[in-house]
Amino acid sequence: MARTHIVILGPPGSGKGTQAARIARELGLAHLSTGDMLRDAVARKSDLGVEAETYMKRGLLVSDEIIFGLIGEALDASKDTGWIMDGFPRNLVQAEMLTKMLGERGEKIDSVLDIDVDSELIVRRLSKRRVCPACKAVYNLDSIKTKTAGVCDACGGPLVKRPDDEENTVRRRLAVYKEQTAPVIEFFRKRGGLVTVNGAGDIEEIFAEIRRVLK
Ligand code: AP5
Repeated sequence: MARTHIVILGPPGSGKGTQAARIARELGLAHLSTGDMLRDAVARKSDLGVEAETYMKRGLLVSDEIIFGLIGEALDASKDTGWIMDGFPRNLVQAEMLTKMLGERGEKIDSVLDIDVDSELIVRRLSKRRVCPACKAVYNLDSIKTKTAGVCDACGGPLVKRPDDEENTVRRRLAVYKEQTAPVIEFFRKRGGLVTVNGAGDIEEIFAEIRRVLK
């Protein structure tokens, strides 16, 4: 059976990670999140992580060279399962590079999902996001509460607020998204196969809509 390849786009905090994790579980795909890969590198204090952190904490994109290295390894590691890509491509150079890398592998993108959410809702959501650095689970003080405050339901680890979820950094990330990532939506729209999903509703309703459009 052909392996499925899905790209999920949308502004910071639109729910890409939340929905990508569900889709990956349902379809047995690898969930490739460049944000998670970078945060792992930052936590390990690798050379790549130290360099990436200077950009991430300011809400800016890290260099394409760093990202291409991570993506090349991730594509190799997920060649038998297929994947859903979350947080990449983030600008037109990355979109063109992904198309080229897949062409060289004889692979293609099957679906591109674009989650659309209003900026003010995003700022509110991200102020309430809490994450588990150990197992990558994502919670929200309003919408996805843990059984015990501050403790991950999945692994028992302590939850933290991401440093880039402070309001001024979120607003910078939204501006970077508008300038550099929004053109990627047009790039995929022109190629066909892009579907925009309203991300303002309930998490399970949005997931149901995504399942419907992927069929
Ligand atoms: P990255 O980690 O990719 O961050 P992002 O794209 O800004 O997206 P987020 O992870 O903030 O949000 P999300 O859309 O996944 O939302 P989530 O599901 O968590 O990137 C971080 C940084 O790394 C970048 O700024 C950049 O520096 C660097 N980087 C990464 N990739 C790069 C690349 N390719 N090139 C260059 N630099 C790169 O949901 C948000 C919150 O809302 C959660 O609390 C969740 O529980 C809640 N929630 C989700 N859906 C709903 C809903 N429907 N209703 C209510 N609450 C909801």
